[in-house]
Formats: sequence, structure tokens, C-alpha cells
Amino acid sequence: MKDPSLRRSATLFRAFLREQQEPERCYTLLARDAADQVEAYVPVKGRVVVDIGGGGGYFTEEFRRRGAQSFLFEPDPAELGAKPPQGSVVADGYLLPLADAVADVTFSSNVLEHVDDPQTFLSEMVRVTRPGGLIYVSFTNWLSPWGGHEWAPWHYLGAERARARHERRTGRPAKHTLGENLFAHHVGSTLRQVRARDDVDVVSARSRYWPFLAGAVTKVPGVREFATWNLLLILRRCP
Ligand SMILES: C[S@@+](CC[C@H](N)C(=O)[O-])C[C@H]1O[C@@H](n2cnc3c(N)ncnc32)[C@H](O)[C@@H]1O
Repeated sequence: MKDPSLRRSATLFRAFLREQQEPERCYTLLARDAADQVEAYVPVKGRVVVDIGGGGGYFTEEFRRRGAQSFLFEPDPAELGAKPPQGSVVADGYLLPLADAVADVTFSSNVLEHVDDPQTFLSEMVRVTRPGGLIYVSFTNWLSPWGGHEWAPWHYLGAERARARHERRTGRPAKHTLGENLFAHHVGSTLRQVRARDDVDVVSARSRYWPFLAGAVTKVPGVREFATWNLLLILRRCP
């Protein structure tokens, strides 16, 4: 898959639509795609790659398949599932049990919207990345059509209402609650905060999945909050 291309976006979108029925296929594809995105900047073979909030470990496994020494840090044992990658660590991204500057690449996919304080989370990613190392961060922003996760797109009418509607329709409690395990982060404010940091350079800021105008869409205030869908930041730790 080439990033960006229409075929790639369509393949990912189709897999995402069948995520519930075929999670294995969906996350394997997504992991391959994300690893390609990382390798557009740095080959991972022989490098130390730290995957933070990596769930069941699809990304960690993909980095290992490509020859990286990859390690998964995931705070929720339920997310790790029955067969996490060997050596996975139950740990919170705010406080990683790692020394400073040990990683060539730190990686977090779709985690930032689940943490209350993204800048502290990012600081911890920066701390464990070696100077010159790469930081991959992507998240679904609140005003994205998928911002409300399982209760999207009804979050546009308010989180409480959307959550209640989801529960009424499915008869099951929703997985996410705004302010508890899902947080309303925005493209504009995140970009401003990251650009103001003196410990990272922003190498790329773009929509993770769009086939065209992926970078341009993040530059237009207002529009970017709806059209980006998922913001991908590639950062380099300053020497
Ligand atoms: C939507 S899942 C994403 C899983 C995987 N990274 C992916 O892209 O498919 C969000 C993950 O973030 C994790 N998470 C939530 N808060 C976290 C924190 N403070 N530190 C690290 N991970 C966290 C959750 O446990 C969950 O595994």
C-alpha cells in the first residue's frame, strides 16, 4: 500500500467498516500501513521501537516482522487480550518504565484521544526517544466524523445524548464516556501546542488516512477539525 493513494484509503476504509466482524484483518492491515508510514522516515530493522497503548499488539508484531526490536506498553490487560506479543508490559504511557532516550522510534496509534493530558503523554514519549529519534502520534480528533467513536456521528449533537442513544439502540453500555476514557482534543490546539515545544521538530502534520490533500487539510482552521478525520504527527526529537 502506498501512502497516500486512493486504493490504500479505500482498502483501509473497507477493512474499518468490517472491524467488528474481522478485527484480525482490519488491525493487521492498519499495522502494516502504519509501519510503512514510519519506514517512509526511518527503516526499523535493528531499531528499538516502543509501541505505547498498542492494544493487542498488532503494531508491535508488525515492527518485529520487519526486524525491529519492538516492545509493547499497554495499561489495560483486557486490551492486551489472550495472546499479546512476548514481553509485553502493562504500563501507563504517562509513566513508562523506561530509561531516557532508549528508543529510536516511539509510536502511538489512536491513543491520544483516550488520555486527558496529551502534552504530558507526549512529553513521556519524547523523554524515552533518543535525540534525533522519531515520534509517531496519531489520534482521532473530537470533531472528526468518527470523534465520538462507537456513538459517532451523533456526538455532533452532544456526547451525553449520543451515548444514551447508542445504549438505547444496542442494549449495551457504551465503551467510551467523554471525560473518562475519551477526551475532546482538537487539531488546531494540538498543532499549536506541539509547535510550541522546544524538544521536538514537527516533520509532518497530516491526515492519516486521506488519499489527497492530506497535509493541506490540516492547515485550514475550522475545516481541519471536520475534514482531517485522524491527525498524524511525525516528530523528531531535538538533539
Ligand atoms: C483505540 S485503542 C488503540 C489501540 C491501538 N494502538 C490501535 O491503534 O489499534 C486505545 C488504546 O489506548 C490505551 N490507553 C488509554 N490510556 C492510555 C495511557 N494513559 N497510556 C497508554 N495507553 C493508553 C488503551 O488501553 C487502548 O489500548
